[in-house]
Amino acid sequence: MAPSEGVLSGKISHEKDSCKKRRGRSVVKEEKMAVSFKELGLVNTKELFAKAIKGGYAVPAYNFNNMEQLQAIIMACAECNSPVILQISKGARQYANQTLLRYMVPGAVEVAREMGSNIPIALNLDHGDSFELAKSCVDYGFSNVMIDGSHLPFNENVELTKKVVEYARQKEVTVEGELGVLAGIEEHVSSEVTHYTRPEEVEAFVTKTGVDSLAISIGTSHGAYKFKVKPGESIPPLRFDILEECQRRLPDFPIVLHGASSVLVKYIEIINKYGGKMENTAGVPEEQIKKAVKTNVCKVNIDSDGRLVMTAMIRKFLAENPQEFDPRKYLGPAREALKEMYINKCRLLGSDGKA
Ligand code: G3H
Ligand code: 13P
Ligand code: ZN
Repeated sequence: MAPSEGVLSGKISHEKDSCKKRRGRSVVKEEKMAVSFKELGLVNTKELFAKAIKGGYAVPAYNFNNMEQLQAIIMACAECNSPVILQISKGARQYANQTLLRYMVPGAVEVAREMGSNIPIALNLDHGDSFELAKSCVDYGFSNVMIDGSHLPFNENVELTKKVVEYARQKEVTVEGELGVLAGIEEHVSSEVTHYTRPEEVEAFVTKTGVDSLAISIGTSHGAYKFKVKPGESIPPLRFDILEECQRRLPDFPIVLHGASSVLVKYIEIINKYGGKMENTAGVPEEQIKKAVKTNVCKVNIDSDGRLVMTAMIRKFLAENPQEFDPRKYLGPAREALKEMYINKCRLLGSDGKA
């Protein structure tokens, strides 16, 4: 054997060993983290949605990335007795650390119980983009996962979604699919224009995949710039005709509305007053949300409004108190304002008092 070969093969086998060790560690970690959502005090969305459809309201699905957002959501929903879906995106998992988030959620459930509240709490993966990610969330104790194959051709979307449903079913985790693409950024998929859901596809999609709920695209989009309108121009109405046709084809089937923040003007004004620069923002008018929740829409996703409240209150506090440097001083009031906003949202969706 040539010396160089020996050195090389030794190096390779050493690398293989360390690879194996790393893989071994991650398997051990995954096994250690594996838990059923029921052990975390969570519920899946089955009953939540059945009640919401019957009652003509929608369950709020609020995104969170940090402790203050989670506290505000839980305190708001416990206080107004609303069921709630906590949402974690792939980005949130990367930002806050998936293990930490996984341990924060049962903590939040416990806080609600300490407040004397028995509200049902679900945990959803928002915009899952692969089978592996969805599987990992099912294993980590999520009670609902969204698999977003909306950018794929119909048959590939069906295939991916069905695979997730088959895995999730074994653990009683419910699954949300999506048909139609919202304009703006959906996780790492961005689209310049809206591709409205084609109602003629919804029955086949639901039957073939076995999903428990379906996100549709009727003109909403993610973020704070939902409609390209100049100041003074009115916001185009959502495509209620598409929603009605989906509902006609799928009676009593849970529909999900993404991109449903109203982009509250009050907070945009505070942001701009205290050094921000957010121009030509536009959200979904509250009357349209009110109208939507009377239909089969039983899950409404809100992320941006929470981000705006937090940013506005932090900007204001720091501008008015330039000497302060304790994060609790500015995160505290931001959390309070967030809580108030979430309570108002629950009232808008009609979920308050429905737990
Ligand atoms: O649908 C997008 C959600 O608002 C999550 O956003 O990917 O920035 O966490 P993110
Ligand atoms: P917003 O950006 O309108 O809050 O939408 C959030 C969302 O759909 C998360 O999936
Ligand atoms: Zn979304």
